[in-house]
Amino acid sequence: MQTQTLPQTTDGIAQAAALLRAGQLVALPTETVYGLAGDASNPDAIAAIYAAKGRPAHNPLIVHLPDLDAAQRIAMLDGPLLILAEAFWPGPLTLVAPLRDGHGLAAAVTAGLETVALRVPAHPLAQGVLRATGRGIAAPSANPSGRISPSTAAHVQAGLGGKIAAILDGGPCAVGLESSIVGLEDGHPVLLRAGGIDLPHLERVLGTPLRAPKPGQISAPGQLASHYAPDAPVRLDAIGAQPGEYWIGFGPNCPGADANLSETGDLVQAAANLFATLHRANATGQPIAIAPVPAHGLGAAINDRLRRAAAPRTP
Ligand code: TXA
Ligand code: MG
Repeated sequence: MQTQTLPQTTDGIAQAAALLRAGQLVALPTETVYGLAGDASNPDAIAAIYAAKGRPAHNPLIVHLPDLDAAQRIAMLDGPLLILAEAFWPGPLTLVAPLRDGHGLAAAVTAGLETVALRVPAHPLAQGVLRATGRGIAAPSANPSGRISPSTAAHVQAGLGGKIAAILDGGPCAVGLESSIVGLEDGHPVLLRAGGIDLPHLERVLGTPLRAPKPGQISAPGQLASHYAPDAPVRLDAIGAQPGEYWIGFGPNCPGADANLSETGDLVQAAANLFATLHRANATGQPIAIAPVPAHGLGAAINDRLRRAAAPRTP
């Protein structure tokens, strides 16, 4: 299959929507990362997403919708989830909520769970395609399962080119990290994945602390130890390079670094640069060393991704 690149025009949006309605897969830009989109009501399209990514069948997908009303037709958003939806949608937040009867989603989207992950993205191209398609769109990050997430159309082409119908090219993603995921445990909101909205901001809006999920309970089944993995090994907290290493710095005190997530030590900029820098480092074939990144603000999500990039690989 030839993967065509669609331009960020009204025509590009219309072509992406037509392909999706016909059951094809299209990579779409969102403000977080590129998503591998398919019609969430079409079992063949959903099966094709799992196949193209090499994704384990027990790892459910996020359904993307144009607004809160559309989300409410599929799942029950009330209490703390509704507070978060009203504050942060459209934006880099995913909410896991109980499915409603007659939700219309292909069964494999939720991998058999009674809950579904929903997100209303802010990116104008994603919004345009959602409205033109008129259906819920399932979209995991558009990378082969376990590998570095894509923040440009070129990353998608390198990972999935030849396996999907098209890529809608919207340039680099502004946030650069996947959405934060919040669900409920015993009625209390829990943070299932650190992401594009930092924890203090979520907690300020909720007026209550977010719990960590209970240990041992795999409530976000995709949160495997090894993920975002380059080909070569990754060494964390590196204050310099060992011979042959590609050193990724952070902040002003990394002289001689091969790249720097943010020369000024800005965590928002570091998040936006993270996956592109990892892709560039990976292309050199060298082992990768990464300077320490502080854990506050978006640093929590950055460190989560770095720990998984460095974790022993699950075959
Ligand atoms: O920013 C994002 O969220 C991007 C863009 C494309 O929207 N998407 C994304 O999807 O990161 P993905 O598939 O790479 O990550 C989805 C995560 C997985 O860890 C999955 O296990 C979790 O969401 N998830 C999905 N449905 C769930 C559910 N019902 N309960 C708990 N976790 C769920
Ligand atoms: Mg992913």
